[in-house]
Amino acid sequence: MELLIPSIAATMARMKGIPDGILHRIQADYLEALLPRRAGAAAALETLAQRDRVPIVDPEVGRFLEQTAIASRAKRALEVGTAIGYSTLHLARGVGADGHVVTIDVDPARQETARRHLAMERLESRVEFMLEPGLAAIGRASGPFDLLFLDAIKEEYRGYLDLALPKLRIGGVVICDNLLWSGQVAGQILKEDERSSTLALREFNPYFTNHPSLLAQVLSFGDGVGFAVKVK
Ligand SMILES: C[S@@+](CC[C@H](N)C(=O)[O-])C[C@H]1O[C@@H](n2cnc3c(N)ncnc32)[C@H](O)[C@@H]1O
Repeated sequence: MELLIPSIAATMARMKGIPDGILHRIQADYLEALLPRRAGAAAALETLAQRDRVPIVDPEVGRFLEQTAIASRAKRALEVGTAIGYSTLHLARGVGADGHVVTIDVDPARQETARRHLAMERLESRVEFMLEPGLAAIGRASGPFDLLFLDAIKEEYRGYLDLALPKLRIGGVVICDNLLWSGQVAGQILKEDERSSTLALREFNPYFTNHPSLLAQVLSFGDGVGFAVKVK
C-alpha cells in the first residue's frame, strides 16, 4: 500500500519535477534564494538545461559536490552521468588544480556540451570523458578514487556502487542523486514512466544505508542525496 502525499500532485513542475515532493515549497524557495547567483559556465548550463530539458542536479547539490570534494580533499573523482557537465563542473572545481575527474555518459552531444563549458572555465584538463555505459566503463576507469558520484540510470545504481566501491579508498565519499525521486520513493508513484526507477530506488536505498562498507544516509535536500563514507 503506497503512502499518499496529496500536495505533490496538486502543484506544477520545478527543476526536478514535483514541488513539495521533498520540502514544503516555501522552504525550498527560501533555501534556493539564499544561494549566491551563479555566473559563467554554471549559469549557462542551468539555462541550457532548462531550455533543453536536460536533467541536472539542483544548484544546492552542485554546491554540495564542490564543498564535499574540497572538505574531503578529494583529488580523484569518478562520476557516472555527465550530461552537459553541470555536476562535472562543480567536481572539477572541488578537486582543485592538481585533481582529476573521470566522468561517464553514453550521449556524445551532451558530453561535447560539457567539454565546451568546462573549457570556458579552463577546467577541461582536469576532466577525462568516457563515452560508454556506466556498467562497462567503471571497470575500465583507473582508480583509486576519493569521491564517487552516481547520477545516471536509477535501475543501475546498485551495479555502479558494487563495481566502483572497490576502487574507492577507505575514507572516500559516495554521493548519489535523486534518492527520493520527487517524493515518489517514500510516497506514491505519480509518473508512470518513473515506476521502474522508483521501485529500483526503493530497493537501492536500504542497500546503500545498510551497506557494511559504508557509513551512509539519505539527506533530504535537492531530490534526496545519498551520502556515505567508505569505512572498510
Ligand atoms: C541526470 S543526467 C546527469 C546529470 C549530471 N550529473 C548533472 O547534474 O549535470 C543522467 C545522464 O546519464 C546518462 N546515461 C544514460 N544511460 C547511461 C548509462 N548506461 N551509463 C552512463 N550514463 C548514462 C544520460 O545520457 C544522462 O546524460
